Amino acid sequence: MSSTSITPSSLPTQRLVGKVALVTGGATGIGESIVRLFHRHGAKVCIVDVQDNLGLHVCESLGGDPNACFFHCDITIEEEVCSAVDFAVNKFGTLDIMVNNAGISGAPCSDIRNYDLSEFEKVFDVNVKGVFLGMKHAAKIMIPLKKGSIISLCSVASAIGGIGPHAYTGSKHAVLGLNKNVAAELGKYGIRVNCVSPYAVPTGLSLAHLPEEERTEDAWTGFRAFVATNANLDGVELTADDVANAVLFLASDEARYISGANLMVDGGFTSVNHCLRVFK
Ligand SMILES: NC(=O)c1ccc[n+]([C@@H]2O[C@H](COP(=O)([O-])OP(=O)(O)OC[C@H]3O[C@@H](n4cnc5c(N)ncnc54)[C@H](O)[C@@H]3O)[C@@H](O)[C@H]2O)c1
Repeated sequence: MSSTSITPSSLPTQRLVGKVALVTGGATGIGESIVRLFHRHGAKVCIVDVQDNLGLHVCESLGGDPNACFFHCDITIEEEVCSAVDFAVNKFGTLDIMVNNAGISGAPCSDIRNYDLSEFEKVFDVNVKGVFLGMKHAAKIMIPLKKGSIISLCSVASAIGGIGPHAYTGSKHAVLGLNKNVAAELGKYGIRVNCVSPYAVPTGLSLAHLPEEERTEDAWTGFRAFVATNANLDGVELTADDVANAVLFLASDEARYISGANLMVDGGFTSVNHCLRVFK
């Protein structure tokens, strides 16, 4: 075995020591799990979000550690994204990892004739423009350093249709396109650019899309049951921590030759189709 081989037992217990990360939408949901996991692995983390109270609460719950901070930023506004990146760099000295996690699903709408254009634009503003701005301003710091890892939260809706509202599916396909193109440009600087695409995780975003007839009095129980029924992989429930682990892998040096990828965290959901009931 060569000296550079990595086996599970040789993985460092803290895989992001000395690295600086910025996580958009880090105040709650999947982003919060990413922040907590990165922090546990020794990274200095800047949480960026529009929900100040929740973002500050996450920092406090990390014991007020100076290696975690919050910055208010609406990712649809370029000056704010630029300021957020500058803030993280001024506070922690550099930027190694940019996680474009913040996203919205938009209101459910099952009839295109009633789809409100302003709703469509709102989703694209956050999910596509916001991710693009995160990539752009991270690249400004990373290109001169000739290193860095940019990870964007995509979705199973980046691979197939029928999973969410039109704007959500369109926006996640667009993020995937951006991911490939930015990976193409930044490869020459040694910067890796990847996506992570989860199946359904119980968060505020996903809960809002549970079909009316599947809603029970306990919304979370109803959500879990519905998601399990439609999953490919049985016996395990996808959590925000599972998604955070995939993001950690792509952020860490263990993924040092992975770029342009869309890592599906979906238990095979987008690879299989059980309509013909061959196996179910
Ligand atoms: N939850 C799921 O089942 C699921 C599945 C696939 C993909 N995703 C993706 O994962 C990411 C996180 O989703 P989540 O489920 O944790 O959602 P969430 O609603 O729980 O959290 C999203 C966070 O983003 C923040 N945010 C929203 N708009 C913002 C803006 N303009 N500027 C800054 N911050 C903003 C919110 O305040 C919130 O803290 C999203 O990109 C989502 O599309 C989620």
